[in-house]
Amino acid sequence: MVQLWKYHMSKNTLTVTDNRTGQTYELPIENDTIRALDLRQIKVNPNDFGMMTYDPGYANTASTKSTITYIDGANGILRYRGYPIEQLAEKSSFLEVAYLLIYGELPSADQLSTWQSKVMRHTYIHESLRQQMQTFRYDAHPMGMLISSIAAMSTFHPEAKDVDDPDVQDKQILRILGKLPTIAAFAYRHRIGRPYNYPNSSLRYAENMVYMMDYMNQSNYEVNPVFAKALDVLFILHADHEQNCSTSTMRGIGSAGSDPYSSMAGAAAALYGPSHGGANQAVIEMLNEIKDVKNIPAFMERVKKREVRLMGFGHRVYKNYDPRAKYIKKIADEVLAEVGGNPMLDVAKELERIALEDDFFVARNLYPNVDFYSGIIYQAMGFPVDMFTVLFAIGRAPGWLAQWREFTQDKEQRIARPRQVYLGEGERNYIPVEDR
Ligand code: CMC
Repeated sequence: MVQLWKYHMSKNTLTVTDNRTGQTYELPIENDTIRALDLRQIKVNPNDFGMMTYDPGYANTASTKSTITYIDGANGILRYRGYPIEQLAEKSSFLEVAYLLIYGELPSADQLSTWQSKVMRHTYIHESLRQQMQTFRYDAHPMGMLISSIAAMSTFHPEAKDVDDPDVQDKQILRILGKLPTIAAFAYRHRIGRPYNYPNSSLRYAENMVYMMDYMNQSNYEVNPVFAKALDVLFILHADHEQNCSTSTMRGIGSAGSDPYSSMAGAAAALYGPSHGGANQAVIEMLNEIKDVKNIPAFMERVKKREVRLMGFGHRVYKNYDPRAKYIKKIADEVLAEVGGNPMLDVAKELERIALEDDFFVARNLYPNVDFYSGIIYQAMGFPVDMFTVLFAIGRAPGWLAQWREFTQDKEQRIARPRQVYLGEGERNYIPVEDR
């Protein structure tokens, strides 16, 4: 038996029999995958197009090889470049993690201080972009403002079109990481009708973000250190999540050779959706609707009847507790201790307790995801609900950039162009409108 097992392992191929023809094919296996194009040789007759796989939502299709982020969804493991997310959240800083994701290794002390000062030197946006932002309607959703402003950045930096030049890439990476919090803060101030605060590059990344949003000319103003730390850690926890919807969008648009601003505007647009980064806003709306612990049983009945979803629960990849959610729960306790509690946290904790015991959720492996507690923290820090996804976008930016950079260096990659199974009409003749 052992011999037989060894023989099979050494083959490292997959044998497929097409029962329509009785023909057998041997397909090479590499990294536990077969190449989809190897299936094309499987035909009933020579004129056939050949076999394809059908995979809506890409649930079982690897679109790339990557060395950036490792997720083991069954065991709730997340690592950036091999480092466990828990260690990075505990010991690192957001800009250090950004460097790690983009360039593959933790920076030396010198590299880190140069990197931090370079990013912070790129925090000012062009005055014309600021003026453009001021033309949005007073109640424009900040995600709409963010998406449009990221796209607009490409018009200020046309050299970014040289997407394969590593120096040009590095420059756009600094610009994007530096300017994103400024755009986000301006969007926030615009929404609440307050003057914009220009960046303060002597502050740390998350501190500067809080400052730009918060400062109102107080003579003794100081950034709340608990808030700045919480934001920095939240950014780390959101920094990458391998081939999720927005990242795949960034790679997909990038695959056409578009500049990183245009690609990232698309990624941010994907993040805006309530099934992705918009879920943290949806969680707060859900908690507001539930209002009180006593209303939870009735809400759960609606979830089970599939009238509503329990927002902040479930994940395509995690079939276990999302490791980010565990850590975020801890930050929620710290921030709420600072601001003096929030009844929404009690509702959320009770929802989680019930869901983790309920057969409906247990059978479907539905656990809290990153968005379940993040919204409560943002709300406790005073962010309006429609800013939540913007904060997610700032955190995710290094991941988008790292994945885009990796894409541009991957010689195997081509323009993203999935196939379809056509089930429409066969050829038919046009009928003039008067005859229909
Ligand atoms: N509440 C109730 N039922 C759920 C939920 C939920 N949140 N999520 C999944 N299910 C059920 C679903 O009805 C289905 O049941 P059945 O097999 O009986 O029809 C089963 O679980 C599988 O669901 P699915 O929709 O096939 O799973 P998916 O992998 O396509 O969807 C998801 C993943 C995240 C879109 C989904 O779980 C969801 O809508 N969750 C709520 C929104 C949310 O919190 N999104 C944030 C995701 S994490 C942050 C990010 O990546 O952006």
